[in-house]
Amino acid sequence: MIFVNFKTYEKGTGVAAIELVQILEAVAHETQIKIIPVVQATDVKEMIQISRLEIWVQHVDPMEYGAHTGYILPEAVIEDGAVGTFLNHSEHKFESFALLEKAHSRAKEVGLKTLVFAADTIELQEIVKLLPTFASYEPPELVGSKTTSVAKAKPEVISQAVEITRTIGLPLIVGAGIKSSEDVRKSIELGAVGVAVASDIVAAKDPKRQLMHLIEGFE
Ligand code: G3P
Repeated sequence: MIFVNFKTYEKGTGVAAIELVQILEAVAHETQIKIIPVVQATDVKEMIQISRLEIWVQHVDPMEYGAHTGYILPEAVIEDGAVGTFLNHSEHKFESFALLEKAHSRAKEVGLKTLVFAADTIELQEIVKLLPTFASYEPPELVGSKTTSVAKAKPEVISQAVEITRTIGLPLIVGAGIKSSEDVRKSIELGAVGVAVASDIVAAKDPKRQLMHLIEGFE
């Protein structure tokens, strides 16, 4: 499976994001690989109207209905049709584990699936205690890398992460700099169930071609 994180890239925002979701859906249909667009909360409703893919959001806050200006309420994204949410991405971390725990339990409470990121194996050991739907290992220093990837630079850490998640039966997603079928193949060989990708697809001149290339790694 592939999570495609649209972040706030221009090509992952608004009308452009709708075009990208249509491409992802066509590729998912053609290849039968599960592809999950992870979009901005403001774009969920439009996505649901045009796509049958599971649509996830990039973040929710640990808030409840009330006076909380500018936050992303879990109830609001589920009402718009989101199926799941990323939490604790290195570009949007919670200030404390307690806030992450609260956001995670709020997400679960409203019925969202969750993918919680860890920057290293120490953080991963804490995160698995939350029992998210997916745990993810993403070294922040490799996110967006144009020269290397988590699979090339940290294969031994992926293996350690797999050991940690397997003990409690959690599926592991890896990400950071994923840009080739070899990156995907290596990640799966090491025991991950899928990858999280952003720049290689969202900022690509030809996202379909690039995605098809990545998917060769599942064969
Ligand atoms: O969530 C996945 C993302 O952080 C990876 O980014 O650009 O390294 O594929 P990128």
